[in-house]
Amino acid sequence: MALRTEVVGRGVGGRRQPPHDAMEGLVKKLRERISELERLTDILSRGKYDWETTFDAIQAPVSLLRSDYTIQRANLALAAVAGEEITKITGQKCYQVFAGRQTPCENCPAQQALTRDWPVRSTLKHPIRDRDYEVHAYPFAGARGGAKALVMHYRDVTEERRLHQELIQQEKMAAIGMLAGGVAHEINNPLGGILAFTQLLIRDHKGDEQIHTDLEEIERAALRCKKIVQDLLDFSRASSGHDKLPVRINDILERSFGFLKREFLSLNITLVPQLAMDLPEVVGDANRLQQVLLNIMTNATQAMPKGGTLTVATMFEPIKEQIGVVVRDTGMGIPPENLDRVFDPFYTTKAPGKGTGLGLSISYRIVRDHGGTITVASTLEKGTTFTVWLPAIEPAAVAGSPADRSRRKG
Ligand SMILES: Nc1ncnc2c1ncn2[C@@H]1O[C@H](COP(=O)(O)OP(=O)(O)O)[C@@H](O)[C@H]1O
Ligand SMILES: [Mg+2]
Repeated sequence: MALRTEVVGRGVGGRRQPPHDAMEGLVKKLRERISELERLTDILSRGKYDWETTFDAIQAPVSLLRSDYTIQRANLALAAVAGEEITKITGQKCYQVFAGRQTPCENCPAQQALTRDWPVRSTLKHPIRDRDYEVHAYPFAGARGGAKALVMHYRDVTEERRLHQELIQQEKMAAIGMLAGGVAHEINNPLGGILAFTQLLIRDHKGDEQIHTDLEEIERAALRCKKIVQDLLDFSRASSGHDKLPVRINDILERSFGFLKREFLSLNITLVPQLAMDLPEVVGDANRLQQVLLNIMTNATQAMPKGGTLTVATMFEPIKEQIGVVVRDTGMGIPPENLDRVFDPFYTTKAPGKGTGLGLSISYRIVRDHGGTITVASTLEKGTTFTVWLPAIEPAAVAGSPADRSRRKG
C-alpha cells in the first residue's frame, strides 16, 4: 500500500489521475481498515475481559498449567491461597508458589491426566496451607498443535473431611462402646468375687508372710482390673440418665488442681491458671466434666516427666456462646501422624500398667454428650494443647460487655 501511495502521489507514468480523487479513495479505505481493526480489537479485549472475570469469579483456585507444572495463568482465588500477587504467579511452578513445596504434591493428578489424556481427580496427600484439596486436572491440546496443557481446579474439602472423620469416630466409638460395655459388665461380677475372696484370705493369713504378700499382689492386680472395667463402663454409658445441673467450670478446675498438687510438686511442674472472671455456667454432670478435665491435665502432667509449665485458661466466646477450657503443656508433644488417634479407645503410648488408652476416648464421649467439642494441637518436643468448648447457659443473662466477660485473671 505504501508503494501505491508513492506511485499515485508522484503521478509517475500511465494516465494521470487527479491526485485529489485518489487520495480520497485511499483515505476511505484506510478509514474502513481502521474501524475494522478497532472492531476486532474491541472483540478481542472484550473476550479477554470476559475470560478473565469469569476465571476470577470462580471462588476455588483455578490455573492453566504446562506439563512441567509451570503456571500459565491463575485466578485470583489461587493467588489468594498462595498469598502472592496475581501478576507474580505466572511462570512459577505451581507446587512452589501455590503449595509451598520443592517437589510436585503427592497425589497430584496432573501427570496422570496428561498421560491418559483424560480428566483425573484426586485428593492431595498433604494439606496446602492447612487446607485439604481435591484436585481436578483437565488436559487439553495446546493451540495450533502445541504441547498439551492442563486446567487445574482445586476444591477445598477440609470441612467435608472433618465431618466425615467425626462421623467415623462417632460410629467407631458407638461400636466399641457397646462391645466394651458388654464385656466389662460380664467381667465385673467375677472380678468382684475374686476381690472379695482375696480380701477374706488376706485377713485369714495374717500370720504367713509369704502367702500374705502373694495375696496382696493378687488384690492389687484385681483392683487395677476393676479400675479398667470401671473405665470401660464409663466409656459405654449412654448419655441419658445423668444429672445435668448448672456447673461452674472454674470451680471444677480449682478442685482438680487440688487433686494434682502433689503430682505438680514432685514433677517440678509450674501451674499457670488463667481463669476468666464472670464465666457463665454450663449445664452438665459435674463429676463427668471433672473426669474430662482431670484426664486432660493428668495426660499433660505425664507428658512432662522432666517438669514444665501447665497453663490452664478458661474463656467465654460470646459469638459461639460457649465456654472454652484450654490446657497447654510444655511436654514431649504428639507426632503429627498420631494426632488423629489420641481419641481412639485403647490408643496409648504409655507402658503397660501406666495407661489404658481410655482417658481421652471417654473424655471425647462426655464432651460430646454435653454438646461440646474437644480438639488437640501439638508440636513435637514443644508441647500439646487440648481445647474443650462447652455450651454456656443463657449468656444473655451475663452482665458486662464481651470484653469484661473474657477478662482473665493471671
Ligand atoms: N498432653 C499430652 N502430651 C503428649 N501426648 C499425649 C497428651 N495427651 C494424650 N497424649 C497421648 O494420647 C494417648 C492417649 O491418651 P489417653 O486416652 O488419656 O490414654 P492413656 O493416658 O491411658 O495413654 C497417650 O498415651 C499419649 O500418647
Ligand atoms: Mg490418660
